[in-house]
Amino acid sequence: MRLQLATWPEVEAYLKQSRGIVIPIGSTEQHGPTGFVGTDALCPELVAWGLGEREGVMVAPTLSIGMAQHHLGFPGSISLRPTTLIAVVLDTVNSLARHGFERFFFLNGHGGNIATLAAAFSELYAESSLGTAGHNRPPIRCRLENWWDGEGVKAISAEVFAESEGSHATASEVSLTYYGYPEDGARVKSPEPLSPRLAPCGPIYDAEDYRRRFPDGRIGSDPTLASAETGARLYEASVADMTERYQAFLAED
Ligand code: NI
Repeated sequence: MRLQLATWPEVEAYLKQSRGIVIPIGSTEQHGPTGFVGTDALCPELVAWGLGEREGVMVAPTLSIGMAQHHLGFPGSISLRPTTLIAVVLDTVNSLARHGFERFFFLNGHGGNIATLAAAFSELYAESSLGTAGHNRPPIRCRLENWWDGEGVKAISAEVFAESEGSHATASEVSLTYYGYPEDGARVKSPEPLSPRLAPCGPIYDAEDYRRRFPDGRIGSDPTLASAETGARLYEASVADMTERYQAFLAED
């Protein structure tokens, strides 16, 4: 069930049977020459919508812009500063908590968000511990899970892509978006190998340094191996992986 397509009485009725919500969170940033700028938001959104539909779980609007300062050397990338993203997460959670939501499952698509989300969760718990949360806020818990981190997805990635998976503009994430958006995927898919075939690896600093180290935007990957067919398998695996983790999160003491 998507929050944006629900009426308020439907949300009220949902809250009588569940206090959990899935919040897809991603980023808007370059994904190499053959991947969409929206990849990191589109992937968790697809998985969240699948989970929501199959399990009857409420899915919040996707937080599509994340902490991506290091990608700003490439056209199209948009970044929130860490402090801005923390403020967005706090206001989103506190708004939903006011209605009675208590368990917030952030389904993440971008490694660069992880540290900032951990800080945002600590800020939220600090509001409870210091007594500065709104008087009407229920006890809340937040969880972050990356769509690619389950056993099912990891097994497919290892089997199909092995060392060509890489760590940015990965063959898996590009496959998942080609599955979700096949016509656009056919438009951007490269018929030629990229050069070098496997992108370089290295540390991440600021935008200028990133562009110098990783001139076409990829890190360690060969996304020309991506396909909608593998994307379909990854989608099924991630929906299953994330459903299991969401249910376990809700069932926690
Ligand atoms: Ni990505």
